[in-house]
Amino acid sequence: MSDPPLSRLATRLAYAGTQLPRRAWYGGHLYVMRRLAAEVRRREGQDERARSDPRVDARLDADLRALFAQDLANVEAGIYPVPADHDGSLLTLIDRSRLFFRDLPAIAARRKRNATHEVANATMRGRRPDYYLQNFHFQTGGWLTEDSADRYDTQVEVLFKGTANAMRRQALPPLADAFAGRDQRSLRLIDLGCGTGRFLDCVKQAWPRLPVLGLDLSGAYVRHARRHLGRWARVNLVVANAEAIPAPDNSVDAVTSVFVFHELPGEVRRTVIGEAARVLKPGGRLVLVDSLQLGDEAVYDAMLERFPQFYHEPYYDSYIREDFAAAVRPYGLMHRRSTKAYVSKVMVFDKHGPN
Ligand SMILES: C[S@@+](CC[C@H](N)C(=O)[O-])C[C@H]1O[C@@H](n2cnc3c(N)ncnc32)[C@H](O)[C@@H]1O
Repeated sequence: MSDPPLSRLATRLAYAGTQLPRRAWYGGHLYVMRRLAAEVRRREGQDERARSDPRVDARLDADLRALFAQDLANVEAGIYPVPADHDGSLLTLIDRSRLFFRDLPAIAARRKRNATHEVANATMRGRRPDYYLQNFHFQTGGWLTEDSADRYDTQVEVLFKGTANAMRRQALPPLADAFAGRDQRSLRLIDLGCGTGRFLDCVKQAWPRLPVLGLDLSGAYVRHARRHLGRWARVNLVVANAEAIPAPDNSVDAVTSVFVFHELPGEVRRTVIGEAARVLKPGGRLVLVDSLQLGDEAVYDAMLERFPQFYHEPYYDSYIREDFAAAVRPYGLMHRRSTKAYVSKVMVFDKHGPN
C-alpha cells in the first residue's frame, strides 16, 4: 500500500506538471499580445491605456491561485482525476499559437471599425438566429468557420491565463453530488453550447461511462468537438439550437452550459432555461458556468462593465445584471447555490421533484 503523504505528494506533482506549463504558455501569449498592442498604440501615437488598478490585479492573482487550489482539492477529494487538458502535441500547440497571433491584426482592425456583423451575410441570414450571426469578440468568422473553431480554445485560455479548463471543472462537484451513489451508465447529461467539447472532455474524465449529448449551433465547432472527444465512448454531438433541445420531456439527469449564457439575449436566456427545465427529470440538476456578475466581487465591478466595450459582447451588459435565481423560478427550477471560480461562477439549480 502506498504511503498517503507520498501519494499526496505524487498527486500534487502530477497536478503541477499539467497546470503550470499551460499557465506559463497561455500567460506568455497574453503578455506578448499586450506588448504587441502597446507597440501598435505607440506607433499610432495613441495615448497609453490607463494603467490597470493594482487592487484589481492583486485580487485577480489571489483568485487565480484560489481556483487552482480548489481544483487540486477536488482532485484530492476524488471528485475527478488529475486533469488531462488534451491541448495536443507541441506541434499542434505551435500551430494553434500561429493561428492565434496571425489573426490579431484582423481582430484589431475589426474592433477599430466596429465591424460586428460580418458573418450576417446573404448566405447565412435565415439559417441561424440573428442574435447569433455576429462577430462575437470581433473574432474572424464568428462561430461559423473551421479556423474559428481551431483558434477558439487558444483565445479563451489566453484571455483567462490558462485557467479556462480549471474554471470549467468547477461544474463537476455539483454534478458529483447529484450523481452520488448512482450508476453513471443509467444517467444522461446534456451540454448546451458545447463548443469544441472541452467541458465534455472534463465530464468524461470524471465519468467515462456516462452517456452525454453535446449540442451547438455551429457545425464547425461540433466537427472540432467530434475530433477532440473521439477518445471517449457514449458521446453524441449534434448541431442544434439550445432554444429547442432535441430530447424528450423529463428525460435527463443533468443539463450543463459553460460560457454560453452571456452570449444570449435576455429573452433567449429564458427560453433556454425553459428548455433545460423541460428536459430535466424531476429532481434533475442544471449547472451553469459563466462570468461573475455585478456585485459578486465589488472590486471587479468596473472591470465587468468595461469588458464589453473592448470585446464585442452585445449581451454581456444585460447578463451581468440578470437575477438568475428569479429567472429560473417560473420554470420550476430552484437556485441551490453559486460558487465563485476566479472570474467565473458556478450556478446550481434543481428541478422541483423527488430527491
Ligand atoms: C463562448 S462559446 C462557449 C463554448 C463552450 N461551452 C466552452 O466551454 O468554451 C459559446 C458557444 O455557444 C454556442 N451557441 C450560442 N448560441 C447558441 C444556441 N442558441 N444554441 C446552441 N449553441 C449556441 C456557440 O456556437 C459557441 O460554440
